[in-house]
Amino acid sequence: MSVFFVHGSVETSTETPYIKGLERAALKGWEKLTATESRIDSLEAAINELEDNPLYNAGLGSVLNRDGYVEVDGSIMDGETGKFAAVASMPLIRHAVSVAKKVMLETKHVVLAGEGAFLFAREKGFPVDNCITQEQLQSWQLAMDLQKSGQELVFSPYTGLRKETDTVGCVMLDDRGRLAAASSTGGSFLKLPGRVGDTPFIGGGIFASEHCAVVCTGRGEAFIQTLTAKFVDDGIQAGGHPEQVGREAIRRMFEKTGESGGLLVVDRHGRVAAVHNSDSFPVALVVDGKVKQVEVVQIDT
Ligand code: GLY
Repeated sequence: MSVFFVHGSVETSTETPYIKGLERAALKGWEKLTATESRIDSLEAAINELEDNPLYNAGLGSVLNRDGYVEVDGSIMDGETGKFAAVASMPLIRHAVSVAKKVMLETKHVVLAGEGAFLFAREKGFPVDNCITQEQLQSWQLAMDLQKSGQELVFSPYTGLRKETDTVGCVMLDDRGRLAAASSTGGSFLKLPGRVGDTPFIGGGIFASEHCAVVCTGRGEAFIQTLTAKFVDDGIQAGGHPEQVGREAIRRMFEKTGESGGLLVVDRHGRVAAVHNSDSFPVALVVDGKVKQVEVVQIDT
């Protein structure tokens, strides 16, 4: 059995275009796995599809930082080999997860950040792309105008003034029981330049092992401080069911930080869970190349 489980993050719309975009991404992942048998390439294909879709806060359509530009985080981890790589706070490049893959496969390093990550991406042939859409630019301009006139800013930390988009992530299982995870994000709206969220923190926003693959989303700082992705891995390793461990992880994160977020997990038996404590959490599940319905667990915190 192979599984691709994709999310469009908390506070994201569950309307048809958002769900269809996630389904397309999960199917792209499955198609790539079928063609190449590469877990890393299949995750890259799934996440690239979402980075190219301006509906989500990753790649094109990312939220702008305080100074009006985009900095992206991206990561990828293989459970079989334990290999992990990431880029953090990288400007002017759309496919953060592809740059993370290059870091994994073509350097001795694990994480590249900021200007160094950008220069590395350029060396590897990635085009310059400011990733800014008209909609996110308008969102930022409105926030600046409101700030100047002393008005309270009412916006989603994940999605800007549009409450409909955030980090994207994918967990997968191949038909030999091997697991992997990847994630990509523009981070949080109006973040300080240089701010890094949970996406490139191994054990914080992402983890994969021989037991499970996990990606998290929401207030990145909360997932880093609680090492939530590793908490899930520990729980599954100890024999927990993904849904039960996912519930415990989100409740624990909330109790320690008061924040909201969500996570996806798949274990080596193909059991999946999507758990969150926010308003919405769109996901798409593809098993053996077919879109399947899946229950999303919303915890009242
Ligand atoms: N969860 C995305 C971020 O905080 O950057």
